[in-house]
Amino acid sequence: MTATTGLTIEGCVIVSAEGNLADADRLMPDALKFPGDQAFFAAALDRADLIVHGRNSFEDQPNSPLRRRLIVTRQVAGLAPDPSNPKAVLWNPAGASFEDACIRAGVSSGTVAIIGGPDVFALFFDRYDTFFLSQAPHARLPGGEPCFPGVPERTPEQILSAHGLCPADRQILDADHDVSVTTWRRG
Ligand SMILES: NC(=O)c1ccc[n+]([C@@H]2O[C@H](COP(=O)([O-])OP(=O)(O)OC[C@H]3O[C@@H](n4cnc5c(N)ncnc54)[C@H](OP(=O)(O)O)[C@@H]3O)[C@@H](O)[C@H]2O)c1
Repeated sequence: MTATTGLTIEGCVIVSAEGNLADADRLMPDALKFPGDQAFFAAALDRADLIVHGRNSFEDQPNSPLRRRLIVTRQVAGLAPDPSNPKAVLWNPAGASFEDACIRAGVSSGTVAIIGGPDVFALFFDRYDTFFLSQAPHARLPGGEPCFPGVPERTPEQILSAHGLCPADRQILDADHDVSVTTWRRG
């Protein structure tokens, strides 16, 4: 739990062999979609009180309309309602703090799930309590979009380590495709 907010911050991503989260068109391809990982991801989001993502990311699950969310964008100065979704708040981190954004979204305790894209993950590098790094080692996305700024010069694992997170647990999500999720925890 972060000292400043009283919120638990979790990150979630699935990456290809190269550490990419999307293909060369910046879209998430079927090659990164596995039922075991999608069930893990849906369960993580069902436990969360608030979802945070960039304007081009979304989770597209049956429970999506029920979830409170912050949509990160430079199209607003600070905080603004999302005209297309009463459960969403548009948030520009340059103009409003994360704490104020959470309050505007009606969330002052519980779990916040950060679901990307890369720059949004980076906003929280020093705040994650937990990061769920799913890896699909046989999925190849040449020229794709790296999951974090700094990939491929460094691996996603090196970047999480550099920000004080440690691998704590690894679970197989799809044995046929060697897809696993490693839970990284602070300290
Ligand atoms: N494999 C996975 O697990 C996974 C996870 C997440 C996403 N994805 C996929 O990866 C792709 C990500 O798309 P994307 O690279 O465009 O990332 P994105 O973060 O979803 O969207 C980028 C937009 O978010 C806003 N934004 C990001 N950082 C910001 C900041 N610091 N301050 C203010 N606004 C900020 C900007 O919106 P404005 O242009 O409105 O200012 C920016 O254009 C999507 O296809 C998504 O489906 C995959």
